Amino acid sequence: MISSILSVLWLLCGLVAVLTMMSLLGRLGKSEGARHLRTTHRTFGWFFSAGYIAFLVIMIPKLMSNGPLLPTPLVTHAALGLLLFPLLLVKHLVVRVFKKYFPALPYLGVILFTIAFVVVGFTGLQRMALWAKGPMVTIQSGDTQRTVSAAVGRDLLQSKCARCHSLKPVYLYRKSEQEWRLTVNRMVAKDTGSTTECQADSIVGYLASELGPVN
Ligand code: HEC
Repeated sequence: MISSILSVLWLLCGLVAVLTMMSLLGRLGKSEGARHLRTTHRTFGWFFSAGYIAFLVIMIPKLMSNGPLLPTPLVTHAALGLLLFPLLLVKHLVVRVFKKYFPALPYLGVILFTIAFVVVGFTGLQRMALWAKGPMVTIQSGDTQRTVSAAVGRDLLQSKCARCHSLKPVYLYRKSEQEWRLTVNRMVAKDTGSTTECQADSIVGYLASELGPVN
């Protein structure tokens, strides 16, 4: 939730930077307020860059913790996100050092904003699709809490857990979240590499919400 709000704010910073740049360069012959616009552009551009670095610092360890088998949506998200790095670097270098390329800056800016929009929008749409699919469950994952989709967990249970045995006995059990976590960890260890940590989290979420202890 917090990350969604932060990414929308981040996009807004990018949008302000693009709009101020366009007002600066796009309106022929009008220079009043140019100083003001330039400062606004710079400030929001820096917010955008700083936000990007913060996202990198938060996201890279998260990504690594998923192991080498990332699901396709995450790979797309990460690849597009990383694409921003060289582009931002080049933009800052042109502003500071290679001023001859100055005319390319507006295009670079628009490309940066477009990619940022796709990265955030793509994840946002996916999240909405998840919410539409069914209830979300908050579970403990290592030291942090994660919100996962129980419906996705149910699908994963069917695709990942029914390979070695039927699911019938699974549905006979009633366990607490911690107990399901232990079972899932034990099962995932039997089947190394085929279930990512994220997928295991979703399975635990589903099992804990549907097959929790009876009071
Ligand atoms: C690589 C094969 C394999 C996969 C994949 C697998 N299991 Fe198992 N499972 C076993 C075997 C073998 C046993 C019996 C021995 C044991 O309990 O370790 C078992 C036993 C169980 C049991 C009964 C024992 C207990 O501790 O409660 C449950 C419940 C269970 N599996 C759930 C799951 C779930 C949930 C998944 C998906 C995350 C899963 N299994 C995936 C091989 C597998």
